[in-house]
Amino acid sequence: MLELLNQIESSALTDIAGVSNADALEQWRIAYLGGSGKVKTAWAGFKDVPKDQKAAVGARFKTLNEALDKALAEKKLQLASAAPAAAGPQLDVTEPGLISAAAVGRRHIISRVRDELVDVFARMGFDVADGPELEDDEHNFIKLNIPPEHPARDPIDNFYIDDPARHSRPRMLRSQTSTVQIRVMEQAVAAGWGVAGSPPIKVVAPGRVYRPDTVDATHSFMFHQIEGLYVDRGVTMSDLKTTLLSFAKAYFGPGAEVRLRPSFFPFTEPSAEFDMKIRLRPDQPERWIELGGCGLVDPAVFEACGIDPEMWTGFAFGFGIERLAMGKYGIPDIRMLFENDVRFLQQL
Ligand code: DAH
Repeated sequence: MLELLNQIESSALTDIAGVSNADALEQWRIAYLGGSGKVKTAWAGFKDVPKDQKAAVGARFKTLNEALDKALAEKKLQLASAAPAAAGPQLDVTEPGLISAAAVGRRHIISRVRDELVDVFARMGFDVADGPELEDDEHNFIKLNIPPEHPARDPIDNFYIDDPARHSRPRMLRSQTSTVQIRVMEQAVAAGWGVAGSPPIKVVAPGRVYRPDTVDATHSFMFHQIEGLYVDRGVTMSDLKTTLLSFAKAYFGPGAEVRLRPSFFPFTEPSAEFDMKIRLRPDQPERWIELGGCGLVDPAVFEACGIDPEMWTGFAFGFGIERLAMGKYGIPDIRMLFENDVRFLQQL
């Protein structure tokens, strides 16, 4: 048996030396290593090998298989590296690549604008606050002085998680970042804030909000807002307007202007909508963009948070980050911000 295996090995190695293409190599593989090849056929005789020789013969089968596998692998490699030479010019691996620098990702424009806004407000003394996106109607509506019969609470206009007809405190995806005003004031009061000598509360809260709007060029079911809240003694509308104007100039440049238009929000009294006049590029005319809402914190909101409205006053504002980013960068369609088309994202 050992004799036979030696013969198989030497003829296999001789044969493979003469192989010069893939077809011939496959023929060789079938002849020696295939299901009815020479090695398998010899293996069929293993059962007749006397017991005392089985170990030696078995070991020889192993080395034979290894030798043939190795010869096959080497031949494959040899044929593969020879092929390009026959087919055409060799690849010069020392040539510089077509893309000389690795493609680097960048932050999404909404994240960048959000951070810029937080940065500008931080320089004006505002802290950053945060609140949950999964909210309840107590923070999204009730404590913001939005009564049960108010149309803003219609299930058609909100992503309720619990059925508002059957739950006393239905959960929902927040529809506005004004919820964070309530959370911040509640937390402050819980920590003992609100007595004479307490420092002002001054926060901005950027984040996602959700509304079941039909998606079009200016609407999305998810977008971002930034909320501002300032609570102190003797806060007036002129503090509010000064803050918004300082922000506009810091963010858009010294030529920016702010305009307040009387409006109504349940959580502020008086309330206004505010616009900013900005110039996108030096060669373009200035234009007004409608940004958001603002006003003096309604005493009912203070009371809902356990704050004495006789002692404390405040202003609040909130506006859409997409709106601002679209105004600043001249983006015509909000969908471009969420489609994640790399060609768009790379421009900004
Ligand atoms: N939450 C309002 C909205 O989503 C915007 C707003 C208006 C926020 C007036 C305020 C405010 O803080 O005082 O439309």
